[in-house]
Amino acid sequence: MPAQEPQPQVTVRLATAEDREALEANETTKTTGLTARYLEMQDEGDFYVVVGLLDDEIRGRVILDCRHSNELAPEMKLLWVVPDARRQGLGVALTSYLEKLAAELGHDAIFLGVTPDNPAAIPLYISLDYTPTGAHRSAVNLSVIDGENGGTDEPTEAIYRKSLKLR
Ligand SMILES: CC(C)(COP(=O)(O)OP(=O)(O)OC[C@H]1O[C@@H](n2cnc3c(N)ncnc32)[C@H](O)[C@@H]1OP(=O)(O)O)[C@@H](O)C(=O)NCCC(=O)NCCS
Repeated sequence: MPAQEPQPQVTVRLATAEDREALEANETTKTTGLTARYLEMQDEGDFYVVVGLLDDEIRGRVILDCRHSNELAPEMKLLWVVPDARRQGLGVALTSYLEKLAAELGHDAIFLGVTPDNPAAIPLYISLDYTPTGAHRSAVNLSVIDGENGGTDEPTEAIYRKSLKLR
């Protein structure tokens, strides 16, 4: 029998200033400078930048935005995993870390917006018990890594919610 490839180690943690260069390596012309801004916002509070690593390398990122107390708070934002690291569990690990963080911060639910034609994210969210609320909003397309021209610039997003209370 052929030897099995060792599985890479998945780690998820809060980003630090030292992660800036690795995160900036995935910026596009549309997102230039946003990594630095997000790290600044984390320092300002109620805004959490979370990185996912395969072995020791940053391969994904997601944000928890708790700054507002509107009907979409707290919000999971800007989840991405680099294309060659997908389907290895980072999407689940990043999302689960954020849910735990939101629960520890005292939130009962977590919200996100997703374009209704996203072929990877919707199955991911459904598999993790997110449900569509029926609400929609227009958003800005900040596609980080799926090409400069991925989708329209102002897509309509469906709002999903997950309860963080024990069932
Ligand atoms: C969505 C995304 C973050 C998923 O990351 P990932 O690391 O590949 O996710 P995981 O490996 O944890 O996948 C977990 C499950 O999600 C579902 N899933 C993930 N990608 C899928 C795809 N392309 N097609 C169908 N189901 C998919 C599967 O159920 C998968 O489990 P399986 O691999 O055992 O079948 C990644 O595809 C991505 O970065 N996409 C581009 C950016 C984006 O759309 N972000 C979300 C914005 S709302």
